[in-house]
Amino acid sequence: MRHLLSMRDLDRDGVLSILDTAASMHDVQRREVKKLPTLRGRTVVNLFFEDSTRTRSSFEIAGKWLSADVINISGKGSSTSKGESLRDTVLTVAAMGVDGLVIRHGASGAAAQVSQWVDAVVVNAGDGTHEHPTQALLDAYTMRQRLGDLEGRHVAIVGDLTHSRVLRSNLICLRTLGARVTVVAPPTLMPSGIATWAATDGFETAYDLDEVLPHVDAVMMLRVQRERMSGGYFPTAREYTVGYGLTRERLARLPEHAVICHPGPMNRGLEIAADAADAAQSLILDQVSAGVAVRMSVLYHLLASSGAGTAEGSVA
Ligand code: CP
Repeated sequence: MRHLLSMRDLDRDGVLSILDTAASMHDVQRREVKKLPTLRGRTVVNLFFEDSTRTRSSFEIAGKWLSADVINISGKGSSTSKGESLRDTVLTVAAMGVDGLVIRHGASGAAAQVSQWVDAVVVNAGDGTHEHPTQALLDAYTMRQRLGDLEGRHVAIVGDLTHSRVLRSNLICLRTLGARVTVVAPPTLMPSGIATWAATDGFETAYDLDEVLPHVDAVMMLRVQRERMSGGYFPTAREYTVGYGLTRERLARLPEHAVICHPGPMNRGLEIAADAADAAQSLILDQVSAGVAVRMSVLYHLLASSGAGTAEGSVA
């Protein structure tokens, strides 16, 4: 794997290899001495044209704990605000001699496009409504920590599916690991062509969350992405919560062993109630913690043996 642009870049062995390495990295994360020399001499640039708290910070921490030099550039405050194009921005950064580019952009396909312009390794940190592969990897890592092997486990992915890159990457990742997946949304937020897509990728669709919840091992609530809904949104916030929110009442419908995930940021009180977000079954902060280990693993797999710089150290 030269870049990580989509979960389709990884087969089952590739996913498991990243998750296994992430477990070693998680051990490092828990220890007092956190730095490994593995990426000493490498430079990683985080190029974020959309806002982020979790992904940008965890890529920065991940790179630093692997001893890479990490630089952050955001759309706001860079020369893109003066009209510089994505291509010119990327070529400018690459000309400084970087080894890895972690990119978030509002356009679907932006990361793949960037990978054609530069020699550096490119990691997709979220491109429009297309994909967010490291989110899917950390979600799988977190669920496996609590549930074990995901083969045959039933995961419901619920919410604003139309605008969700997390959905797309998770569908690929979870199906690759053999999980059963049911996607649940109001009809207005179900992606067009879902029936064909479901038949091709082998997942189920549902519109009644109350019917699905008692049968799952994990429920992943997705954020209502109001910023991507130019004409307002439907159903209204109140209607959405009544029909599709993980409310205190719905929490009681989940099996005792089932876990709750949310990629964040959350709209508390809209798609998820505080009672659910903060429940003992919630893995939401575990997902954040796993984000560092999984991104260390991804950077390790992509950069430890490639290109310039000196790769040293071991994750074992
Ligand atoms: N889950 C996720 O991508 O969060 P951020 O937007 O905070 O990075």
